[in-house]
Amino acid sequence: MSIRIHPSILSCDFSRLSEELDAISAADMAHVDVMDNHFVPNLTFGPPVVERIREVSPIPIDAHLMIEQADRHAPVYADMGCASVSFHAEASAAPVRLAREIRALGAKASLAIRPATPIEPYIDLLAEFDQILIMTVEPGFGGQSFLDVCLPKVTRTRQAIDDAGLEVQLQVDGGVSATTVARAVAAGANVLVAGSAVYSAEDRTAAIEELRELAHD
Ligand code: DX5
Ligand code: ZN
Repeated sequence: MSIRIHPSILSCDFSRLSEELDAISAADMAHVDVMDNHFVPNLTFGPPVVERIREVSPIPIDAHLMIEQADRHAPVYADMGCASVSFHAEASAAPVRLAREIRALGAKASLAIRPATPIEPYIDLLAEFDQILIMTVEPGFGGQSFLDVCLPKVTRTRQAIDDAGLEVQLQVDGGVSATTVARAVAAGANVLVAGSAVYSAEDRTAAIEELRELAHD
């Protein structure tokens, strides 16, 4: 499966959002972390800001919703033109229904799971999603250390996707850097989110290309 690099703008300079988006034009999508201070102990932004980002930047938006009541709020992000909408399994009463609604609105539907959430209850449902997002940190903040303990879950998910002959993308998010990206890919991930690893680098394009190369090795 093709390797995709999605920088997370959580680590960018929010006072210069438009330039910070231009700086990652070498990436496949911009990962946009929406937090509500309830699902995670941090607050970022909501629909008006994400919609404006979509309007001013040509890069497709990979929205990662770390919010409660996903069934109610996630369709808004699909409707405004985000290319992909990740909602958390822990925040949805009916993930299959929600994924179908997101797809009907023209976006890719992605199911995200926290480190303590097993993939097993979702294995038979994989065909209902375009992507599975496995968190490799506790969600809420950038710059945390990669949790190697989540890698067996990545491997089991990749195995299940391949066994079923599906084209589901497998994203990992949290602590992905030049030192951890190869382990994530070896476990079976093909979509790599990197916040601090990209935005702490002076040359964002070089950081993106370095991750891409290390992922292909
Ligand atoms: C964390 C967010 C991540 C975060 C990753 O809850 O979902 O997308 O920005 O940041 P790094 O790559 O610095 O761990
Ligand atoms: Zn994220």
